[in-house]
Amino acid sequence: MKFFVDTADVKEIRELNDLGLLDGVTTNPSLILKSGRKIAEVTKEICDIVDGPVSAEVTATEYSEMMKEAKVLAKIADNVCIKVPLTLDGLKACKDIRSDGRMVNVTLCFSANQALLAAKAGASFISPFIGRIDDMGTDGMELIEEIKTIYDNYGFQTEILAASIRTVNHVKMAALIGAHVATVPPATLKALVKHPLTDKGLEQFLADWAKTGQSIGS
Ligand code: E4P
Repeated sequence: MKFFVDTADVKEIRELNDLGLLDGVTTNPSLILKSGRKIAEVTKEICDIVDGPVSAEVTATEYSEMMKEAKVLAKIADNVCIKVPLTLDGLKACKDIRSDGRMVNVTLCFSANQALLAAKAGASFISPFIGRIDDMGTDGMELIEEIKTIYDNYGFQTEILAASIRTVNHVKMAALIGAHVATVPPATLKALVKHPLTDKGLEQFLADWAKTGQSIGS
């Protein structure tokens, strides 16, 4: 499973990239707002840090305006992945941006039929929003399962990018189902390493080691 980080916070991105954990980054207009920075400037900085796809979202809702914005975003760097919303205009833009050879992430997916349309439009990634579905009182993970089955049935190449992840369990479940990518907030990504028995075991090993009076390498 590939890990993308869901943030426009350059400090967090640099830290996770240095750990060797990052395969890409996703941003959206809300995350750009949170960063307090200009989209072109912060996206360029992120693209210079991370080798993989960096999703930058169009904000127009009409096809030709989306295409204009996509051209501006694509000029920022070769690894910019254009993010478009799951609307008819967004799907049309997806098809044409893909024809130009650029990666596209179709976002705001809440149903299997939407995911089917995105695959038919040639999307590189489909972003089902797990957490926001859970918030409605239904199981977001069922959507990942449905999309996986449909994409496998027809051999679609579109990668399932599990988004709106809120918990470490979301990551585990998405991986068990076989989502290709999870885009995860920085804190949740770092929390994947935690286990109380790891901490307890390490504490015991260090205490016992101190009693040996030895040191390695000196
Ligand atoms: C995905 O690309 C989105 O940026 C993101 O996962 C949305 O998550 P949220 O529901 O926590 O805002």
